Amino acid sequence: MKRIEFLQLFGFGAAMALSGCLGSCSSKKDDPQPPATPPSGPGPSPTTVDFTLDLADPANARLNDPAFGYVYGAGGTVIVAKTTTGSYIALSAACTHQGTAVQFQAGSNNFACPTHGSQFNASGGVVNGPAASSLRAYTVTQTGTMLRIKS
Ligand code: FES
Repeated sequence: MKRIEFLQLFGFGAAMALSGCLGSCSSKKDDPQPPATPPSGPGPSPTTVDFTLDLADPANARLNDPAFGYVYGAGGTVIVAKTTTGSYIALSAACTHQGTAVQFQAGSNNFACPTHGSQFNASGGVVNGPAASSLRAYTVTQTGTMLRIKS
């Protein structure tokens, strides 16, 4: 193989490798957040809430999806979940340790904080720290396909 042929071959291979990386190695920072993440962070735990969720609204479909079983409401400050018995529960979403939004653990009826691992039961009580205080619990009343979450 002549030198010019080698360089042409190598140059072509490098260009192909680079273009392949540009196509598949792009930054993921523009990817949307997982749908179960509250839209703007949990914020402070509200003492007073009164809002409704329509179970027939596709935006709330993850509440009845066994793989998730929860959605956030009230601007991301409240997590509403469907228990293994089919009832609905609502708790303040902000972990009482440092404020990360908790996530429902479908199948165990517990809520977990992804930051440092605190666990809360279905009533909001601490199961495992480092969180030391409970999540606030709210009343959930179902009428047809409407859930009313109220303090
Ligand atoms: S923020 Fe939840 S355990 Fe630390």
